[in-house]
Amino acid sequence: MKVLTIVGARPQFVKAAVVSEQIRQNAREVLVHTGQHYDLNMSDIFFQELGIPTPDYHLGIGSGPHGAQTGKMLEAIEQVINEEQPDRLLIYGDTNSTLAGALAAAKLHVPIAHVEAGLRSFNRRMPEEVNRVVADHLASWLFAPTQTAITNLAAEGITKGVYRTGDVMYDAFLRMSKRVSSRSRILDTLRLRPKEYYLLTLHRAENTDDREKLQAILGTLAEVKRPVIFPIHPRTRSKLSEYGLSFLNQSIQFVEPVGYFDMLNLELNAEIILTDSGGVQKEAYMAKTPCITLRDETEWVETVTAHWNCLVGSDPVKIREALALGWLGSDYPDLFGDGAAAAQIAKIVDDSFSK
Ligand code: UD1
Ligand code: UDP
Repeated sequence: MKVLTIVGARPQFVKAAVVSEQIRQNAREVLVHTGQHYDLNMSDIFFQELGIPTPDYHLGIGSGPHGAQTGKMLEAIEQVINEEQPDRLLIYGDTNSTLAGALAAAKLHVPIAHVEAGLRSFNRRMPEEVNRVVADHLASWLFAPTQTAITNLAAEGITKGVYRTGDVMYDAFLRMSKRVSSRSRILDTLRLRPKEYYLLTLHRAENTDDREKLQAILGTLAEVKRPVIFPIHPRTRSKLSEYGLSFLNQSIQFVEPVGYFDMLNLELNAEIILTDSGGVQKEAYMAKTPCITLRDETEWVETVTAHWNCLVGSDPVKIREALALGWLGSDYPDLFGDGAAAAQIAKIVDDSFSK
């Protein structure tokens, strides 16, 4: 069996690091990198650190408005599918690379397997929500990380081909967090003491494309007593310069995006994580670090119900209150499976072909 896998953005590299290895046990995988992310520290660093196979195709699409970016990907992926004639197409999550892969495969009648299916924010203004709804409705195999994801799919009438596998990011976390002490020196480099700093990531359109929200969040964090380590996404950096905003000589320490081992190290040792990232909310839970989510809704509702995460949007009052609370959930339920999601996914894809 030949599986064509589409990746393009940072969180997809982390997921592919554990899934590709399993897929390759029994199938031939053709790996396609759309080039949606292209900076060294947004792309190559993950391939190097995590031993992800070199892509067979690098489409070099780069950045652009949604229509142009997705359109170019669609055209290029269609060509690859025609050339490779795969038996299955594997996509991850909810980026424009996911959407383009799903559309190209569906039109060419290549059955689709969607990893991280069924997540919903119920906010259609989020580009990711549009991407994931379309991907789920086109997929034949839907790998849901949580029970909520299965319930969301059922509410849209999707029950066939749905599997609760757990979350492949947990597989990656379990495996890679063991190597953090030998692979990351970032606390020394940044002169940080464990549990005496906050970690911040921020890149969602709803925050970055709104000057007032960005100013409210960063202005609030610039005044806290702890260092706030901020590996800044290139999108956010360019928005700050476009808006003429800077928060120099205050609590926030701007650093370039970091590699996965440094990120895990920062997450494991932060006192609190503040983020609008989906992956980072989950990793906060995995690292047992409290999380403040700078959004009004989340797809990872279980982390909120378990009291390890709270939603504050961009409201300075709520951000300050959440920081002062310094809470921890008293229970730590198993939210993301048993760390063997990738193996399960590969087996289901493999069986689907052998049957
Ligand atoms: C994308 C995904 C988002 C995901 C995020 C992970 C979509 C719609 N969004 O958002 O779901 O959470 O990736 O990080 O697919 N840029 C660079 N260098 C890079 C990549 C991006 O400078 O290597 C800058 C460019 O100015 C670009 C902007 O970041 O226009 C946004 O990049 P893009 O890939 O379109 O969206 P993300 O915000 O990264
Ligand atoms: N990440 C990283 N370095 C960073 C920021 C994030 O390695 O500077 C990792 C993070 O640990 C997680 C993934 O990137 O595994 C999350 O990606 P991101 O926040 O960009 O996207 P999202 O999950 O929101 O789609």
